Amino acid sequence: MNYSIALLPGDGIGPEVVYATVHVLEALGAHYGHNFAFAEYLMGGCSIDRYGTALTDETLSACKAADAVLLGAVGGPKWDNPAAPVRPEQGLLALRKGLGVFANLRPVKVLPRLAISSPLKLEKLTGVDLVVVRELTGGLYFGQPKGRWKTDKGERAVDTLEYHDHEVRRILEMAFRLAKGRRNKVTSVDKANVLDSSRLWRQVAVEVGNKYPEVTLEHMLVDTAAMRLVSHPASFDVLVTENMFGDILTDEAAVLVGTMGVLPSASLGEGGPGLYEPIHGSAPDIAGKGIANPVGTVLSAALMLRYSFKLEREASALEAAVEQVIATGNLTPDLGGSASTDQVASQIIAVLTS
Ligand code: IPM
Ligand code: MG
Repeated sequence: MNYSIALLPGDGIGPEVVYATVHVLEALGAHYGHNFAFAEYLMGGCSIDRYGTALTDETLSACKAADAVLLGAVGGPKWDNPAAPVRPEQGLLALRKGLGVFANLRPVKVLPRLAISSPLKLEKLTGVDLVVVRELTGGLYFGQPKGRWKTDKGERAVDTLEYHDHEVRRILEMAFRLAKGRRNKVTSVDKANVLDSSRLWRQVAVEVGNKYPEVTLEHMLVDTAAMRLVSHPASFDVLVTENMFGDILTDEAAVLVGTMGVLPSASLGEGGPGLYEPIHGSAPDIAGKGIANPVGTVLSAALMLRYSFKLEREASALEAAVEQVIATGNLTPDLGGSASTDQVASQIIAVLTS
């Protein structure tokens, strides 16, 4: 089969991890008889430098026309002025909104070798295998009104946490479907003791949950969830939550695996191309050195194979190859190894095609 993939390498280490992943996908395609056609576009700071905007209409159209989108990372000190009218992150948010990818899946699985890099006690980490389902196109990031105004009493700034019941329903449906193929448990994370939007969220969660009697639904306040994520991480299966709560909790969850470098994500909508990106940022401190960990992007590509191309066998084989390299290979410096980005990719390819 032929699959078209739009590449958005972005800034910092983004190009390094994306090109390493392209090599892995090409080897996988050759091995299993698939043809991946790649087309590259600018997004983020690099697009600001070239076009004055973080995401052009042409790039968004090209991404919409592709079968899937693979993104590296955006941003860096060069564009890091919060007062600037154009910022790299705007491109990312416009892309997510433009593609309609309302569900951001962030799986976190602690492999034994990774547990050693975590600051948490080893016994807490045994059996950690969870997915955060983060709502991605609504909530505090997109609610209206939003902005800054001068008033007679000084300046005023507003962000709005807004949800419509249909937005909550579709993300909860996604979480329950996912839980059915896993350990049948959904933890819906909210702040229902304070926020009206959370009370709506909780009500819809119960309604959706009634359709899935085989799945256990628990509600948890976000502050409690933040605590339990480090005190009892193995107790979670699927967590589903508001956009910004999910943003914060997934960075916290990255501590469980000891590095941001290995965590993938898939952003999915109703039909249309999925968006796949590692959860780490552009890491300007190590950019250009060839030592960025490509595993988060490679595992994002595995999610692409699974969710966008329905290539479950290939997705599982790629994940197994990554797990084997993590268990026995030479890893990048963030995990205590001495391998380059390309050397990690080559080891993954060797296992995959052996
Ligand atoms: C993430 C990032 C983004 C977000 C930033 C870069 C806008 O932190 O993907 O988690 O907040 O969604
Ligand atoms: Mg984040």
